[in-house]
Amino acid sequence: MNGAEVLVRAEQVRMSYQRHEVLKGIDLEVHRGEVMCMVGPSGSGKSTFLRCVNHLERIQHGRIWVDGTLVGYRQHGDTLHELPEREQCAQRAEIGMVFQEFNLFGHYTAVENVMAAPMLVRRESREAAHANAVRLLRRVGLGDKVDAYPRWLSGGQQQRVAIARALAMRPKLMLFDEPTSALDPELVGEVLDVIRDLAKDGLTMIIVTHEIGFAREVGDSLVFVDDGVVVEAGPPAQVIGSPRHQRTQAFLSKVI
Ligand SMILES: Nc1ncnc2c1ncn2[C@@H]1O[C@H](COP(=O)(O)OP(=O)(O)OP(=O)(O)O)[C@@H](O)[C@H]1O
Ligand SMILES: [Mg+2]
Repeated sequence: MNGAEVLVRAEQVRMSYQRHEVLKGIDLEVHRGEVMCMVGPSGSGKSTFLRCVNHLERIQHGRIWVDGTLVGYRQHGDTLHELPEREQCAQRAEIGMVFQEFNLFGHYTAVENVMAAPMLVRRESREAAHANAVRLLRRVGLGDKVDAYPRWLSGGQQQRVAIARALAMRPKLMLFDEPTSALDPELVGEVLDVIRDLAKDGLTMIIVTHEIGFAREVGDSLVFVDDGVVVEAGPPAQVIGSPRHQRTQAFLSKVI
């Protein structure tokens, strides 16, 4: 990724839930076109960090920039002021997020799920939003499920609709939080295949995952988070093959 510009920069990010400090100074950079995989023990702060990138949580210290813009705040002198809700939403619209739970609208068909945000937020016409949604559903292998309701779809198919829905907003960054953890083992592959394709197309992504093999194959970088800090980061083959820190070694020995 040498030479590519930085798309996401986190600097000394600290975040607490009440008095419980969860992020204790996260520093990282994601370059445009990079796929960063993030691993770490349960409770180490991975989901919290992704939520901070989208300003779904307030941070108490540090800064996050996406594409050169400070996330969630405006700076006056040395102080940060939280952006009004409308501006927070405008920032969030640039970032796609896919969770473990698919959270599709149950009373909307697949194509309606994918069309909803572009029509509402981007004011796209029904025709344009529909055409783009069909294209995206084909791209994730669901060209024959356009008019299906979520309850008619398997978990893997629902998650692929959720990915298409995120893509419909033409995000500059995609955040995945354990996108395959809720799936039966035989359905994991079809979702990883879609994410692999997005990586080939050069989409910038941060992927929290337990799929170490996938991280090694698709990730440009691998970040190991433990107890709210980045313990180790680097090319996946290096971090997995010869971890430098004892905490990384201990974690990997349990998951590989
Ligand atoms: N809304 C909340 N209120 C209070 N504490 C929370 C909240 N959400 C998360 N936490 C706590 O913050 C810590 C980090 O949680 P987080 O979900 O970020 O971990 P994680 O690395 O994503 O774990 P997992 O691998 O299990 O998903 C945990 O101790 C968790 O209990
Ligand atoms: Mg989590």
